[in-house]
Amino acid sequence: EETYDEECDYLFKAVLIGDSAVGKSNLLSRFTRDEFRLDSKPTIGVDFAYRNVRVCGKTIKAQIWDTAGQERFRAITSSYYRGALGALLIYDITRRQTFQNIKKWLSELRGFSSPDTVVVLVGNKSDLQQSREVDEEEGKSLAELEGLYFLETSALQNQNVEEAFLSMIERIH
Ligand code: GTP
Ligand code: MG
Repeated sequence: EETYDEECDYLFKAVLIGDSAVGKSNLLSRFTRDEFRLDSKPTIGVDFAYRNVRVCGKTIKAQIWDTAGQERFRAITSSYYRGALGALLIYDITRRQTFQNIKKWLSELRGFSSPDTVVVLVGNKSDLQQSREVDEEEGKSLAELEGLYFLETSALQNQNVEEAFLSMIERIH
């Protein structure tokens, strides 16, 4: 594993947002440590993890912040978003409410971050096809309407997780 003081050309901050239990923490642990837990606990406060990525011959150290979806466990909103150049806006394809709340998350994000923050809309838990409540087309349409990138992922099956984070990271520099 790469260490903190390894030479890097850029360091940037990205944030994960979305309702509780959509899979933010598991997407992060899958991307940074290739770990997944079925019994993970809700995040309290803020957590973060790093991963170095090579883009166009440069090493980018991505510092990815994760907070609680539940209001009562959340970190101070303004400091969470401060300096973020990228965001993954995550919902759970098996719970329509989490998709409906995307508009709320997006307006908070836009209120606290810079207008050029790269935003990727992510429909997680694509492995649970039989419980699907949000069609892939709905995610695509919302992303088009709001000018976001879009992907469906599965942290459990490790599908499109790499692609979701990299599509954000590669567009930042
Ligand atoms: P908060 O910290 O409360 O905001 O939740 P969170 O968004 O971080 O969710 P978390 O990663 O803790 O995952 C919540 C639950 O969903 C856990 O039981 C995970 O195992 C499960 N989960 C996460 N991603 C997936 C996935 O891709 N597929 C399936 N089937 N379950 C998942
Ligand atoms: Mg969490």
